[in-house]
Parts: sequence; structure tokens; C-alpha cells
Amino acid sequence: MSVVIKNGTVLDRRGEQRGDVRIADGVVTEVGANLSGDVELDASGCMVSPGFVDLHVHLRQPGREEAETIETGSRAAARGGFTAVVAMPNTEPPHDSLAVVQMVRRLGEQAGLCEVLPSGCITMGRLGETLAPFSELAAAGVHIFTDDGTGVQDPLLMRRALEYGKSLGIVLAQHCEVSRLTEGAVMHEGGCCSRLGVPGWPSVAEELMVFRDIELSRLTGAPVHFLHLSTAKSVDLVRGAKAEGLLVTAEAAPHHFTLTDESLSGFDPIFKVNPPLREAADIAAVKRGLADGTIDAIATDHAPHVSESKEMPLDQAPPGMLGLETSLALSISELGLDLGQVVALLSWRPAAIAGVADRHGRDIEVGAPANITVFDPDLNWRVTAAGLASKSRNTPYAGRSVRGKVRHTLLRGIPTVIDGEAQR
Ligand code: DOR
Repeated sequence: MSVVIKNGTVLDRRGEQRGDVRIADGVVTEVGANLSGDVELDASGCMVSPGFVDLHVHLRQPGREEAETIETGSRAAARGGFTAVVAMPNTEPPHDSLAVVQMVRRLGEQAGLCEVLPSGCITMGRLGETLAPFSELAAAGVHIFTDDGTGVQDPLLMRRALEYGKSLGIVLAQHCEVSRLTEGAVMHEGGCCSRLGVPGWPSVAEELMVFRDIELSRLTGAPVHFLHLSTAKSVDLVRGAKAEGLLVTAEAAPHHFTLTDESLSGFDPIFKVNPPLREAADIAAVKRGLADGTIDAIATDHAPHVSESKEMPLDQAPPGMLGLETSLALSISELGLDLGQVVALLSWRPAAIAGVADRHGRDIEVGAPANITVFDPDLNWRVTAAGLASKSRNTPYAGRSVRGKVRHTLLRGIPTVIDGEAQR
């Protein structure tokens, strides 16, 4: 069976080019004019780009299936244009054994909506005490190791993790938070937090760990990836490290370039997230970092939570917000970048960090695996919680008007989304 994507504009690293794209047996077989195939997908007014890769999603399975499952999260991912996602390790049990990692990957394959790439824990149980079995997990194909949800507090353990990781060719991804400085925190420590009279998460809790791990990367020669950067100084630190040629990469989440701490002035936990929403100057710095390449990737930190937990008082509600289905639109609407830059941040740059550049984020040319996203960059739509495929409803963007929408997504040549509708 062949599929042809018709009347679109191909957008990849080489730029833009009008043309139809024919796909058969999971790969691109022709790019040209007036192609026909067994299944034809209209792409009029749309960009046809390499599939998106999300370095940071919480799929909640195993352990929290009431909030999300690998299947429902993969469906949300496909609708957001993602063909691969890195599943964070803070499940119950966490990703510190071969059994869990293999189960996550298998459930992803069964869902068949996007490639689910399990991360591995840095430490057993994410407790920050002893290293997880990197070698065994790496041999099973795990490339990103992180204790996300918490940072590795012990600098010696982090040093050893970097040394061990370097010998295996894997990447350590740090959730930067010195937890002694954030005990009891519910939002960013700043003017809004003082007015509300609640305990704050100081920016320095993030920045100290960014600084420490840049220095540990320098010491060990091992790569380090910084998860969800949220402060102006963190962005500056990464910019400086890159200028020195250090092996650091970084991501930022859409909520950190679209929402400020003022969103919390009504005490609504829907806006509670870790790291917290910061100030206007931080948002501007994150946007600059994305524009100048300091920040390599947009990653959603998709963090589903059941309504009951998000309806608890601000201090008791868990941090986290949905992201997979709004990421493209927020990036197009809010960053002021050209579409090529937006797609680079969503596709081939994160694909390289995740170690899947052989099959995701590839230019759309003959022989390339057909992991492809077709999106309308001009379509205006309104976000509604009920309109999302995630099992949870905790989007902070309900009611917001945005521009840019995924129309079709193809995984290994098979349409997972057609005209915005998931096919499985
Ligand atoms: O807001 C967050 N939610 N930040 C994290 O680091 C973890 C995540 C979650 O698992 O809910």
C-alpha cells in the first residue's frame, strides 16, 4: 500500500520545497509533482516536515494509569505531531530495571501511535543513593538517563554517573533543583509569591545545579542535557558553556515561554508546575535562548494529573501540566521564529539528543523512514480540555486561541492521525 501526501510544502533542514511525497513500506519512495497512491492525504496550505520528537513526557504507566496510559499518552503525542517521545522514569515502579524499561517500550509498540523511548533512572528508585544499572539498560537501547522529578543532589554521585555514562555513550539529563532550597515551595519565589504569602521556589535552586553540572561535564568530558530550563541565568550559564565548547544541551517547555508566575494569583493549581512558572524577564530569556540556539529543543514536560488531585489546595496539588497537543501551536504563536526554526526545535535537534536521528527528524528524501508530520501553520483554533486525547484534563491553556495545528502524522509510513483524528 502506498500513501501520498499531496499539495503540501516539504520543510526540512534543506529549506522549503513544494511537492507531493510518496511513501511505501515505511519509507519515502518519491518526492515530486502530481504523484498518486492508494491512500492520498491532502496537505493544501500545510507544511510536510520530519516528525516531532519530545524529549520529556510523563506517560504514568506503570502505576498511575488513572492519569494516563502509554496508549492514551501516545495518542496525545501523535495528535501533537510527535513520532517519538522519551518517557520519563518517575513511574511506579520507576525505570531502574530492565523489566520496566522493556514493558514501557512494548506497550508503546502495542499502541503503535509513536515510538516510545523509555528513559532510564540515574539512581535506583530515583532516591539519589546508588547508581541504576546503566550498562544493562544501555544494552537494551536506553539512551537518556535521568531522575526527572528530582535532581541528583549528591555531586560525587553525579560525577560518577557522568564518568560511567561517558564510557557507555549515553546522555545524562538533569532535573536541576537543589531540593533543600525548595522544600515546601508551591510557586516561583518572587513578587507574586510574596503577595500571596506562600513559600517560593527560588531561581537559584535551579541555577546552582546547572552551574554544578556544567562544571562536572567539564571535569569528566561527559555530555549533560538540562531538562526544562526556566530562568534567565540558567540560559546564560548554558550559553557560556556552549561558547566554551562543552558538551551541554538544553530544552525548554512551552509553559516556560508562554506563562508567568502571575497566572497563580488566583491560587489555581492548574498553573502549578516544577520548575515553576517564572517572571517576564525569564520568559524573554528562554525565548532568546530558543532563538539563538542556546536551547536545543522544545520539550513539553507533558505531566498528566487526575482532576481530583489538581482540585486540591495549591500546597497539596501535584505540579505538572499537559503539553503534547498544544506544543506546536504555542511555539508557532508565541516564539516569533520562522517555521524552519520551530521545526528544528521540535524535530531534528531533539532527535539527535535522543539518539534516534537515524529514523526521526530525517530530511524527507527517498529512502528516509517515513516519520512525518503535516501541519497547517495558519489554522487558528481554541484549546479546550475536552478536545484533547490525553486521559487527564490539566491544561492551563483552556480557552486560549492559538495558531498552527497538526493535520496528519505518519509513523513508519502508517497514518496515526488523519485530519486531526487519531487512527487507533
Ligand atoms: O511539574 C512537574 N511534573 N515537574 C516534574 O519534574 C515532574 C512532573 C510530574 O511527574 O508530574
